[in-house]
Amino acid sequence: MVHIDSDANVSWIIRIAGVIARQYSSAPAGRSPCFHMPWSAPGMPLGCPEEAPPSISYFHVIRDHALVCLPANAAAYVRHMTRTYKAALITGASSGIGAAFTRALPETTALLLTGRNRNALDAQRQALTTDHRRIECLDADLTIMEGIEAVVSAAEDFGIDLLIANAGVGPFGPFLQAPEQALRDTIAVNVMATTLLVRRLLPGLLARARVQNSRAALIVVASSAAFVPVPNLAVYAASKAFDLSLTEALAAELVSEPIDVLALCPTATRSRFAERSGYHGGVPGAQDPGYVARAALAALGRRRTLVLGAVSGPALSVVAVARAASAQAISLITCRLG
Ligand SMILES: NC(=O)c1ccc[n+]([C@@H]2O[C@H](COP(=O)([O-])OP(=O)(O)OC[C@H]3O[C@@H](n4cnc5c(N)ncnc54)[C@H](OP(=O)(O)O)[C@@H]3O)[C@@H](O)[C@H]2O)c1
Repeated sequence: MVHIDSDANVSWIIRIAGVIARQYSSAPAGRSPCFHMPWSAPGMPLGCPEEAPPSISYFHVIRDHALVCLPANAAAYVRHMTRTYKAALITGASSGIGAAFTRALPETTALLLTGRNRNALDAQRQALTTDHRRIECLDADLTIMEGIEAVVSAAEDFGIDLLIANAGVGPFGPFLQAPEQALRDTIAVNVMATTLLVRRLLPGLLARARVQNSRAALIVVASSAAFVPVPNLAVYAASKAFDLSLTEALAAELVSEPIDVLALCPTATRSRFAERSGYHGGVPGAQDPGYVARAALAALGRRRTLVLGAVSGPALSVVAVARAASAQAISLITCRLG
């Protein structure tokens, strides 16, 4: 018995809810409806070349929860479905969470690493290079259009099937004391570059996935600060709210497309971020970036939003599920209107 309560399954539940509503009207009184249907949660393919997907034996709606009975091999099937990607673009790969993503991806994934610090990128490449692995580095400043265009063009040539939009900055301190340039850079990197990279690279990601009969993936690194206004990080938190909203909307809009979309929302993580932002205090309980990267890759295709943090993680995950459900419901309406 699997208790379906994760946001990855929300749109699936919404779709099933329509079926349940129809079936209940014809089901004999006092009996739950029983169906067989293919495993078709968003992020899961309709079928698997190596192994037939398990079919759902039946499900039952009790209050607001869908309880689904799956055959015994379902858990093994889900584990088996952890994906690998042929080629990944990671922005902000020169340090912190981006560098951790480069280490967390398997050797079979070719890497295109971008950032501004060429020496750090080259050091990453050296550390990760194996005989058969393709790793390329590109130093590009994402505050300017030339930098964004250089990254887009390199990623298209590289034929990526995984885009990790991770680069991010944000000044710490009172809004009125923040240098205007730091605010401009925050919006340029976190908002403008993220939007344009996703807009320009999605068509290629989707086209390649269709041709190869596979799935592409997009991870946007937002933040737990995306959920709440954060004094002294006002523009940063607002920019991350943009990233979260954008990614949640895309996850709903692209639900029928061969792509898994994840908004990654870590709480404080050990990296150069705090130092660069101008915050010089301690960050108690900061997470390991390796843990953040591995958890994100494991969640890809299973959830739409992943909040990581000992305290805020569980609390904000509830909010994330509700937001994903709203996005999916709104997308049904906007699709009809469109
Ligand atoms: N650390 C945290 O507590 C935390 C919590 C939640 C979310 N996040 C998010 O996680 C992401 C990664 O941050 P991090 O913690 O790993 O910090 P980090 O160590 O400072 O890494 C930031 C990365 O972004 C790149 N970057 C910054 N400005 C850039 C620009 N103008 N052009 C191109 N690349 C640029 C940096 O590359 P160069 O140095 O080579 O320029 C660096 O690789 C960010 O989006 C951040 O908002 C961090």
